[in-house]
Amino acid sequence: MEEKTCSINKDWGRGETKVHFSLKDIRFILAVGSGKGGVGKTTISIIIALALKKAGYSVGIFDLDFYGPNISLLLGLENKTPVIEFDKIKPVLSQENIKVMSLALMISEREPIFMRGIMASKLLQEFLQKIEWGPLDFLILDLPPGTGDIFLTVIDLIPLTGFILVTTPHKLAISDAKRTISILKENNVPLLGIVKNMFDFFENEDYFQKFLNSQNINLLFEIPVFKEFAYMENLSIVFNSSKNQKLLDEISNKLLDKVFRVH
Ligand SMILES: Nc1ncnc2c1ncn2[C@@H]1O[C@H](COP(=O)(O)OP(=O)(O)O)[C@@H](O)[C@H]1O
Ligand SMILES: [Mg+2]
Repeated sequence: MEEKTCSINKDWGRGETKVHFSLKDIRFILAVGSGKGGVGKTTISIIIALALKKAGYSVGIFDLDFYGPNISLLLGLENKTPVIEFDKIKPVLSQENIKVMSLALMISEREPIFMRGIMASKLLQEFLQKIEWGPLDFLILDLPPGTGDIFLTVIDLIPLTGFILVTTPHKLAISDAKRTISILKENNVPLLGIVKNMFDFFENEDYFQKFLNSQNINLLFEIPVFKEFAYMENLSIVFNSSKNQKLLDEISNKLLDKVFRVH
């Protein structure tokens, strides 16, 4: 399909001085994070990438969970490695033509990852210098859980169009989400909204609604439990069904509406 390009105000983002050279041709940068681990950030990052790609945009996805990189597995890219030329790293291409970069593409699954916070932050800065994303409409950043070094480096160095907070409606996840929201507010990072993952598994609708109201934030979209994930890890395949393709359309409509309304 021919790729659309979206009109862009070059001044968008959080301060031009922070625009990193390797990101200069990217129109919108969306960070997907959460307070808690295991609530579905990586899954949602990929769903968002698939949805925007299906809507005709050029998309990249950057796995920033250096301690547990796993995007390649979910996109069926286990056998691909990024090409490194003249000290520049070229992201690999998924079968949908999504550009993907993950530490998992550069090291084997058996290699343990030992990394102190400062090293993770340095690695991110090195990646920012070396990865050649080229022109993209959207870059999705799949963050590690919480508000540690990588999160802080991201909000400090990367001009985010917006932050997408993933949570389940469980009280524990919401409690952690509140902490992340305060840090985003303190740092003036625009929060595009909340993704409520596995909404049909939890029966906490009132509590969740109160949380949204008290924080004055909106629900971006919600995702049900996918039984398919239990036996199929490749999300490209799971989202190929006509029912799930329709869900991708709904997601891209909601997301694009928000991105274009906010900016
Ligand atoms: N909507 C969903 N339905 C079923 N399983 C899900 C859903 N979202 C996430 N999962 C599962 O939960 C686990 C954690 O998801 P993941 O996306 O890796 O979370 P995170 O990146 O926040 O740690 C994975 O096994 C994933 O398949
Ligand atoms: Mg993850």
